[in-house]
Amino acid sequence: MDLLIGTSNPGKMREYAEILGELSLRLISLRDVGLQSLEIDEPYATYAENAAHKARAYAQASGLHALADDSGLEVDALDGRPGVYSARYGGPTDRDRNIKLLGELAAMPDAARTARFLCVVAVADPQMGAVEYGHGTVEGAVGYGICEATGGFGYDAVFIPEGFDVCFSALSPGVKNSLSHRGNAMRSLIPVLRRMAHT
Ligand code: IMP
Repeated sequence: MDLLIGTSNPGKMREYAEILGELSLRLISLRDVGLQSLEIDEPYATYAENAAHKARAYAQASGLHALADDSGLEVDALDGRPGVYSARYGGPTDRDRNIKLLGELAAMPDAARTARFLCVVAVADPQMGAVEYGHGTVEGAVGYGICEATGGFGYDAVFIPEGFDVCFSALSPGVKNSLSHRGNAMRSLIPVLRRMAHT
């Protein structure tokens, strides 16, 4: 089965290629089908609604089964912000957003820096418009600075997963995917993808 990965974020694309590598799916990028400039908005207040909206739009535009996710970082000291608005928090670059987050947390005690990434992955069927969902989280905390490691993307440079003393950026892609919100969401969808591939 062909599966369109509906993201223009190269970090997410790399992670999907790694996580889905073991399945007999042909992963198709937006560029492969000439849809690289089709930006779908995220108008809803929940991850699931945004993920489904994007997956349906990409399935309709391509005629292929399409996968899209919506994800965010929820920080306890900020009452769950930036959450579903993580992509629109602070300035235009990952670094701007990380600096803003660290600034907001500057006066917070250790215990208040706990946080989690959430991800909802949606896969849409191009004929029926039906959507299947996978949900994943990973617990951790926001560190005290931007870590120097260059792996990952987004808030990886400030997020320290539970059980580790380094940020996500310092972990290999395989290790990050084995515990990340996106990896967990995808693993919960694997039986659904296997079924789709055989129908
Ligand atoms: P969206 O899911 O494309 O709306 O992205 C939400 C925001 O969360 C973006 O700013 C991403 O960079 C960030 N984000 C999503 N997943 C991750 C991740 O695995 N690591 C770091 N940041 C992430």
